[in-house]
Amino acid sequence: MKTKLKSLFNEKFNRPATAVYASAGRINLIGEHTDYNGGFVFPGAIDKAIMAAIDVNGSDKVRVFSVDINEYAEFGLNECDAPTQSWARYIFGVCRETIKRGGAVKGFDAVFAGNVPLGAGLSSSAALESCFAFAVNDLFNDNKIDRFELARIGQSTEHNYCGVNCGIMDQFASVMGRKGYLMRLDCRSMEFEYFPFNPVGYDLVLLDSVVKHELADSPYNKRRASCERVAARLGIDTLRDASMDALNAIKNDISAEDFIRAKFVIEEKDRVLAVCDALNAGDYDTVGRKMYETHIGLSKDYEVSCEELDFLNDIARECGVTGSRIMGGGFGGCTINLVKCDIRDKFVAEACKRFNDKYGHEPKVYPVVISDGAHREE
Ligand code: GLA
Repeated sequence: MKTKLKSLFNEKFNRPATAVYASAGRINLIGEHTDYNGGFVFPGAIDKAIMAAIDVNGSDKVRVFSVDINEYAEFGLNECDAPTQSWARYIFGVCRETIKRGGAVKGFDAVFAGNVPLGAGLSSSAALESCFAFAVNDLFNDNKIDRFELARIGQSTEHNYCGVNCGIMDQFASVMGRKGYLMRLDCRSMEFEYFPFNPVGYDLVLLDSVVKHELADSPYNKRRASCERVAARLGIDTLRDASMDALNAIKNDISAEDFIRAKFVIEEKDRVLAVCDALNAGDYDTVGRKMYETHIGLSKDYEVSCEELDFLNDIARECGVTGSRIMGGGFGGCTINLVKCDIRDKFVAEACKRFNDKYGHEPKVYPVVISDGAHREE
């Protein structure tokens, strides 16, 4: 991809690119919809990334070509210069959020492409934001903006330019990811730990239902609003500090819907900690059981699953897969499956066949390779 981007850059802008940057998509082992509730998440960067060939252009304009969409955008760096194409707004947002934090951004030319499947719950948008946040930091700010702030720049881009009130998990994973490690992040204190992830005898496999989700204008923001209403009613900052006893005590004062959403979050935050303990003990049966519990919670209580993902989850269970659940924001995308190596191929073949029989196409299959996050390519 790097060579192709460099030659396309030459073709579009008649000079060589000075640098190539990349940032990854992510998986999350467990801890869904906990990030914006101050809870724990357990993500890692994967070997699918957005990559950009870039050179400064000496003007105050950004000129970008998206290889995958085959579109060109050009915009200035003031608030009134926001581009209309939604993909370009991610890059514009990153520039604006950097400037708002006192960072420098000048004109540049870029050609970018990626292999993070769009709308699959693998955070292609966070990969795009993190790639450009990292590039802008390297090109114009001597890398003085720390990596956490780069993740926040991506998150604020979602909030202020893309209409998604997301948490910090995706951008954090994309920026901080490290080959072979998952990360347990406490989204309240922002303390985190790298966790070596090498489950001997097991594989992680993603099955992409290819049902597309669009988080902007989606029920995602409504889920977050429910959680915030319950936290406010409990007089706490986030549901991180809530217990089931406290929630039960206000059950009659909140809507049934808000209650069930908060219940999921409170249970999920404990599941992440249980999974960490189980991983430390090499107890993958418990890890897997918790993954199934998360799926049921996301499907029945948080209501962010869909028929196709529930079907994939059922197949996993029937095939004896150790753990399986919907991954990411929901409303489509992938299941993540922790499966013993010796039944992996049989499970994947069975899932593909039965899914195809029912929906007329096979799910896409992605093996998970935990990889490095944002970086400049050599
Ligand atoms: C999306 C958001 C994240 C997180 C997940 C659900 O990926 O961008 O911040 O809330 O959904 O865990």
